[in-house]
Amino acid sequence: MKEFKDKVAVVTGGANGIGHALAQEAIKRGMKVVIGDIDRNGLERIEKEFKEMDADFMVSYIDVTEYSDMEKLAKNTLDRYGRVDILFNNAGVVVPGPIWDLPLNEINYIMYSNLFSIVYGLKVFIPIMERQDTDCHIVNTASVAGLLSSPGMPTYHMTKFGNVGLSEAVNFQLQERGSKIKISVFCPGFIQTDLHHCDERRPEKFKIDWNDPYYQSDEYKEGLKRAHYVITTGMPIDSIGMSVFQAIEDEQFYILTHPQYLPVIEWRTKNILEGKNPDISFFK
Ligand SMILES: NC(=O)c1ccc[n+]([C@@H]2O[C@H](COP(=O)([O-])OP(=O)(O)OC[C@H]3O[C@@H](n4cnc5c(N)ncnc54)[C@H](O)[C@@H]3O)[C@@H](O)[C@H]2O)c1
Repeated sequence: MKEFKDKVAVVTGGANGIGHALAQEAIKRGMKVVIGDIDRNGLERIEKEFKEMDADFMVSYIDVTEYSDMEKLAKNTLDRYGRVDILFNNAGVVVPGPIWDLPLNEINYIMYSNLFSIVYGLKVFIPIMERQDTDCHIVNTASVAGLLSSPGMPTYHMTKFGNVGLSEAVNFQLQERGSKIKISVFCPGFIQTDLHHCDERRPEKFKIDWNDPYYQSDEYKEGLKRAHYVITTGMPIDSIGMSVFQAIEDEQFYILTHPQYLPVIEWRTKNILEGKNPDISFFK
């Protein structure tokens, strides 16, 4: 897609961070924008901001872990604008901690927030785009954590590997049927966003049970500290919107931001191809 003016972009998780940057860039390019997010305060904040930009936009309070909310987002979009050209399937959260210590609630929380949300977005919006029969684009926000693994956040890797695999396979299926829908999978490294505060916006059904001893443990506290550190020292967000839109123009499938991770992806791939075991000493 090369022309964006007057087209419609839907952004999940658009009230903060990467989604917000994508929405801002869409508006700069003359698009109409629909933002779906669970953060009511954030939605109010960007309503003010986008009004000041004189943008054509709407916000929708949704929880991407609910399929019916994704349907609501699509309905709101079609009722207001009658079409959708780009879907940024972007909302997500982070859950650090060892898999054997994590309460099941945490695992469900990240699976629904990071992976089922992507499935729901594809399942709801692909048929709409297919019926429309125009050039469309879907960007699934995964992470470089979907292309390599590290000891820090196994459940995060699990959902992001799932996202990358899903994006690749759906992309093949769409190509096979000669679809006009193009897909990209966005795999950034650490970026300065509000991701380390995701617990402040948890859906009620995944709320933390503070009586669970896990939340008193060093693992929990260390995990939070690490998430805070890596996000606050990440890449500034300024150029993200521009580079993702450039990738859409170029119909680029894998969108990466941090070249310093390429040797790690190469190391992992070589291990697989050469039958070598991954060794923790690589990270030391
Ligand atoms: N920041 C990074 O370093 C980084 C790196 C790689 C990938 N990512 C991915 O980028 C995406 C965006 O994250 P971010 O870094 O901008 O974080 P962020 O917390 O700043 O933004 C995420 C947005 O998603 C929304 N959200 C969370 N759960 C939701 C739900 N159930 N329903 C609706 N909205 C919900 C939040 O309210 C928030 O506005 C995520 O998928 C994340 O995994 C982030």
